Amino acid sequence: MKAAILIGGQGTRLRPFTLESPKPLLPVLNRPFLEYQFQVLRTHGVREAVLCVSYLATAFRRAFGDGRRLGLRLRYVSEPMPLGTGGAVKNAEPLLRDGPALILNGDVLNAFDLREFLRFHRARRAELSIALSRVKDPTQYGLVLTDEKGYVKRFLEKPSWDEVESNTINAGAYLFEPPVFGHIPAGKTYSLERGLFPERLAAGAKLGGWVAPGYWIDIGTVEKYLQVHLDVLEGRTPFKPGDGARPLKGAVGARVAAGPGTKVAPFARFSGAVSLGRGVRVGRGAQLSDCVVLDGAAIGDGARLERCVVGARAKIGTHAVLGPGTALAGGSRVGDYSQL
Ligand code: GDD
Ligand code: MG
Repeated sequence: MKAAILIGGQGTRLRPFTLESPKPLLPVLNRPFLEYQFQVLRTHGVREAVLCVSYLATAFRRAFGDGRRLGLRLRYVSEPMPLGTGGAVKNAEPLLRDGPALILNGDVLNAFDLREFLRFHRARRAELSIALSRVKDPTQYGLVLTDEKGYVKRFLEKPSWDEVESNTINAGAYLFEPPVFGHIPAGKTYSLERGLFPERLAAGAKLGGWVAPGYWIDIGTVEKYLQVHLDVLEGRTPFKPGDGARPLKGAVGARVAAGPGTKVAPFARFSGAVSLGRGVRVGRGAQLSDCVVLDGAAIGDGARLERCVVGARAKIGTHAVLGPGTALAGGSRVGDYSQL
């Protein structure tokens, strides 16, 4: 089976970090996020993937090339203007026609069993199936209502709270039979979620809705981007930090992963889970709790950081305080406390 991964969005909710890098290439524990998805594909025997790129398209080729290094055959389909999730899939059609195709959003992480998904899909004789996840706030996602046999009854993208009738949402993974592509208009902006899914339901087509067990996250906001680090470090996912994020010796009582070349001065204190990139400096007596510090950033002596993300090469002055929710752009400067 072949996969197509939708990675052309601008990642506006994850600015400022997505101004420098497309969302699926942002590091998670010092590995491009998409490499986790590649790992899931390989585990389930998928060896070929089409990357549907648009925003900062060349960055993907630079990062992954033809995919050989990653044990995959990667091909690229580029939209000069973003065509929406449906338009992107339509563009990839010529490379996906032979049998059911797996379509994935490029900003979600889960480790569900693709073979199980395929079995479910075939047993329903569905023209397309959608993997579902259960969440507390469905208003951020595509709400999916299913019947007791596992068929989708309704698909409602970004519902308002008074429309929320269940906690099952679109997890951003689909199986498409080849005829489905014929229902997507060519050469124009079109959405799977607001166009294809509701339209196929209205036409009486069979759409499967498979509740995927286990961990799932969409890293589309700063809060969720931070959260995925905490989840991996604290063992809530099936993923482990790789060689680029080694446990920091001496960080007692906290889970700290650090990239190569990172130096931590004496008396720095960590709590919760902390991810340090490559070549990061943490000053004497600095205190870091539940945060992500990207490559080459420097944290001043005695600075205090809590639940924040510090962009690459940022410089934080001595005794500066960064509170929860802070998202500091790459290269920013935060002065010493005495200068503030
Ligand atoms: N090639 C291409 N072209 N890719 C696109 C485009 C486009 O025009 N627009 C979006 N994408 C990619 C994004 O890069 C991202 O990986 C994926 O499609 C989903 O887009 P998001 O912008 O992240 O959508 P969302 O998170 O608001 O909602 C989607 O994902 C949810 C699950 O995470 C929807 O599919 C929801 O129904 C779903 O619940
Ligand atoms: Mg998303």
